[in-house]
Parts: sequence; C-alpha cells; structure tokens
Amino acid sequence: MFEHIERVPGDAILGLIEAFKKDTNPHKVDLGVGVYKDAQGNTPVMRAVKEAEALLLKNETTKTYIGSHGAPEYGEVVLPMVLGENSPVLAAGRASATQSPGGTGALRLAADFISTQLPGKGIWVSNPTWPNHHGIFTAAGIELHKYPYVDAENRLDFDGMLAAVKQIPAGDVIVLHACCHNPTGFDLNREQWQQILEVVRERSLLPLVDFAYQGFGEGLDEDAYGVRLLAENLDEVIITSSCSKNFGIYCERTGCLIMVAKTNEQMENVRSQVAIVARENYSNPPAHGGAIVCEILHSAELAALWREELAEMRDRINTLRRDFVEALKPYGLDQKYACVAEQRGMFSYTGLQPGQVDRLRDEFGIYMVRSGRANVAGFSHANLPYLAKAIAAVN
Ligand code: LMR
Repeated sequence: MFEHIERVPGDAILGLIEAFKKDTNPHKVDLGVGVYKDAQGNTPVMRAVKEAEALLLKNETTKTYIGSHGAPEYGEVVLPMVLGENSPVLAAGRASATQSPGGTGALRLAADFISTQLPGKGIWVSNPTWPNHHGIFTAAGIELHKYPYVDAENRLDFDGMLAAVKQIPAGDVIVLHACCHNPTGFDLNREQWQQILEVVRERSLLPLVDFAYQGFGEGLDEDAYGVRLLAENLDEVIITSSCSKNFGIYCERTGCLIMVAKTNEQMENVRSQVAIVARENYSNPPAHGGAIVCEILHSAELAALWREELAEMRDRINTLRRDFVEALKPYGLDQKYACVAEQRGMFSYTGLQPGQVDRLRDEFGIYMVRSGRANVAGFSHANLPYLAKAIAAVN
C-alpha cells in the first residue's frame, strides 16, 4: 500500500527549528520561525500568563469538553479585543466567535466553511504571503490566486495591489493581513485601508482578515484599524484571530474564527455551520490557552501587566529594527536595508536573496527563511554587530 509514497522535504519554516538546533556554530543566530525572543534569545512565559496559570491550576474543577465553539467566555473577551470595546458590530449582534486551535486552526475552519458553503469562490492572497495560506486553502479545495504586494525594489506595491484587486471576480474571497504582514512586515496605512474597503465594497468581495499579530505593530487598537473599518462598513467579513503570539502561548494553540454577518439571524445561521466544520476537524478546541486569556482579561491587574509586557515586546522589536539599520551604516548598507526600520511586526522581508540566505546559514550559522524573511525578534544588541558583518560579507 505505501510503496509508492514519496518522501517530501519538511516545512520550510518549521524545518529551521531543527536545523538551527543541530548547528554547532557558537555564534549562530535564529531568525527563522515567528516566535518572540528576549535579549538572551529565549522565548519566556509572560509573567501575566504564569500568574494566570497558577490561578487556573488552583481553581480548575473540570476538564470536560468545551463544545465546538469553545468557551463562550473566550469569545466574550476576544470579540471586543478585535472589534473594539464599543463596536457597533457587536452591539448589533452581527459577530460570532469560535475558539480554534491557533490562528492556523481558524484559517482551516474558514477554508472549510468557504469550500462547503460558498462553493466555486476563488481566494486571493498577497504575493508573497505566509506559505501555509497556500497549503490550507488548496487543501480545502479552493482555487488560489495571487495579487501583487511587493515590487522589485522590495517596497510595498500598493498601486499594483489595488489595480489587481479591482480585477478580482465579484464574490471571490480576498485574504488581507490585519497588521505585521507575514512575511514582509509591510502594512497598509489608514488611507490605503480606506481604498481597499472601497474596492472590496464595489466588487462585492468577501474579506478574510488574518489577524495573527495583534499588538506587535503599533498597539492593540491601532493594529485593529483595518479589521474594524471593514467589519463596520461591510455586511460580511471573516476574521482569523490569534492569541498564541500576543500572549506568548504558542504551544497552547489559542485562536478564534470570527464571522461577521449582515444580521444577527444570518450570523446564527453561519455560526451553526461553523460548528459542523469544527466538529468534523477536531470536535472541540483545546481549552487551556483560552482559559489563560480569560483569566488575564477578567482581572484588571493581570490585564494591565499583560499590556505592559506586550508593549515591551513591541518596543524592543521596533528599537532593534532601527538599530539593525544603524549597525549596517559602517558597511554602507544602511540605505539598502532601510526598509527593515519601516516594516512592522516580527517579520522583515529583508531583500536578501536565496543564495545570500544560504551563505548566511552555511558560513555564519544565521538562519532565516529562504525568501529573505527574517524574524526581527531574533536580533539582539549582542548579535547585531555579527549580523551586520555577515550581511556585509554576502553583499
Ligand atoms: C511563522 O510564520 O514563522 C509563524 O507563523 C509560525 C508558523 O507556523 O509558520
């Protein structure tokens, strides 16, 4: 039965974790998978999370199933975080939350919902996008297309994007990154979101907004600008949210699929279908991550601590972006890589080419995705001089 099955290469992003571990270079630097790192290169458990877990351990009374939509309390804290405390969408009862195993799980729910309930609709992703978008949507049987996002000079190609979006067949789905675009780090500004809203409305497109990095760009509310604009001005929007990253609970797989419909009645219909999709995929989501988030957001003290820790992470990343460009100055490369300071979130599309990325790995033990995507959180003030020297050597 299995004789014909061929071995395939591992995942290009997750494979970097193993490769990095095996490397014996004492100067090695991990700029691969998108997890936050502190100055020592560790991904620590946030203090607010530790405190919440201690409370959970003490007060937990059951580990029974939490239902296909997950814990209702999780939806109750995530919806206002994503859509805003005073969201008219929430006031109108137009949004439904389904807890999912990470943002990836939410994407898979969205994909299966589209393929079963909106058959024949194509889906449009930015070029480039997170490679797993391709895998998830095609696995669900949806035809995938691309719109331009970055030009040959490694700049946001908004004009190219807008022109392409104007040609998308009416009714198709367009995937947008709410903030901290993965892999490029180039985000839309407010005026550009407004223009996208207008085209999406004109062409009756269905936006699917991937919101994996809320709080890592400019701030929790600032990063939600585009999501809220679309949800408040369109009848239907799909949002895939993640708390795995902004609460640093990656392995707890903590996400949410938010479905915004025109009316409360339609939302309930859609919601009933999402429950079926969840049931058929994994039945019930894991509970622990959502319980941590609820414990934190239900406590004014823990919520304040969490916001403070998140702001520290965001500020550290933004400082390192600027300091990286500074470190390249002595090599005359600061202009070439100036985009790194302008991008937001964990990732930078550096402009490094695959051959240069290979040399950085083989000669210097510096690991990043072959597209030239670097996890900026892997920079540190200790490794910036080494990184700058290595980048100069491959230029
Ligand atoms: C990344 O892009 O590095 C993260 O989203 C982790 C992943 O699952 O790929």
